Amino acid sequence: MVAMRKRNLKVLTFLVLLVFLTSFFLNYTHTVVTTAWFPRQMVSELSESLKKLMNYPQRPCTCAHCVGEAGVSPWFDERFNQTMQPLLTAQNALFEEDTYSWWLRLQREKQPKNLNDTIKELFQVVPGNVDPVLKKGSVGCRRCAVVGNSGNLKESQYGPQIDGHDFVLRMNRAPTTGFEADVGSKTTHHLVYPESFRELGENVSMVLVPFKTTDLQWVISATTKGTISHTYVPVPARIKVKKNKILIYHPAFIKYVFDSWLQGHGRYPSTGILSVIFSLHICDEVDLYGFGADSKGNWHHYWENNPSAGAFRKTGVHDGDFESNVTATLASINKIRIFKGR
Ligand SMILES: *[C@@H]1O[C@H](CO)[C@@H](O)[C@H](O)[C@H]1NC(C)=O
Ligand SMILES: *[C@@H]1O[C@H](CO)[C@@H](O)[C@H](O)[C@H]1NC(C)=O
Ligand SMILES: *[C@@H]1O[C@H](CO)[C@@H](O)[C@H](O)[C@H]1NC(C)=O
Ligand SMILES: *[C@@H]1O[C@H](CO)[C@@H](O)[C@H](O)[C@H]1NC(C)=O
Repeated sequence: MVAMRKRNLKVLTFLVLLVFLTSFFLNYTHTVVTTAWFPRQMVSELSESLKKLMNYPQRPCTCAHCVGEAGVSPWFDERFNQTMQPLLTAQNALFEEDTYSWWLRLQREKQPKNLNDTIKELFQVVPGNVDPVLKKGSVGCRRCAVVGNSGNLKESQYGPQIDGHDFVLRMNRAPTTGFEADVGSKTTHHLVYPESFRELGENVSMVLVPFKTTDLQWVISATTKGTISHTYVPVPARIKVKKNKILIYHPAFIKYVFDSWLQGHGRYPSTGILSVIFSLHICDEVDLYGFGADSKGNWHHYWENNPSAGAFRKTGVHDGDFESNVTATLASINKIRIFKGR
């Protein structure tokens, strides 16, 4: 009798320990494991925790509020799909038929090269076996600044604040030299497509956003033979970015942004909103700088002096108003913060 009770106690202690260890390990602020003293309930809670761990094999987040947290907003939970992988790797390079045909239509590519062959060749040039962004710095609170190119950054003095983030994401032609006080000098990831490419700093990861098969071929070409110098406009034939610093935004993730977040608005998502949703998936806290118009309603770039230049909002392919509504809504439910500048 006594021996049996002792064994029960041991099992119980073991279970309690497991539950605590698991919940500690998970450290999801929203999964408060209630300490119930019934082994059966504990086992079920334990298996719940394990299930969570299997479903979401992500980094434990130690921030006060983690952006991917479920249960804060039904609007968010309806749109956010944790299992979508933001980066293309050799392992996840299979496309559903409708994703592939949707993607092919984005820039109405005529006679595209075989995608399978292109991807195979691509991953002989750039790393394709790992997902460096997600694996790096596996524990903690990853704070990200997503820096858009709006003129509202002018005289904002945000530079030091932006540089204080773990990841700083920039996009397209964004320069930092000469604008450090307002936009900062640090960049960890720079999202570009061939037509928006600018040469990057030495340790910056380039995230190629492919809108057509040629964009993937351009990466191969620009880091090797330099045979592609023109798409629908002239593009750099060669780039200095190191091959091991090149990441590929997943085309299926572009479709996810379009379907889930933009609800089909515009022809396809802008690099801006693609960067924002990307950051929701790789960061724990997200701060936005340089998005939207300036205080006078102008939509220009911070490096331009002419306030009527740029005019992102009027491009035919993106729905700037709907995209702004998405970021504003994310801010209104405290998932992200938007720094509006001037
Ligand atoms: C989330 O993404 C996964 C992987 O692409 C997909 O299988 C699943 O259906 C998606 N879930 C929802 C609710 O859309
Ligand atoms: C790529 O390969 C997959 C399977 O390996 C196949 O289902 C698909 O049709 C191929 N796609 C193209 C465009 O060749
Ligand atoms: C790039 O990284 C190397 C190695 O960590 C470092 O020595 C170098 O200073 C960095 N360069 C820049 C421009 O940050
Ligand atoms: C977004 O648009 C909806 C529908 O037009 C509107 O009700 C809502 O107030 C907008 N949200 C923000 C934050 O602007």
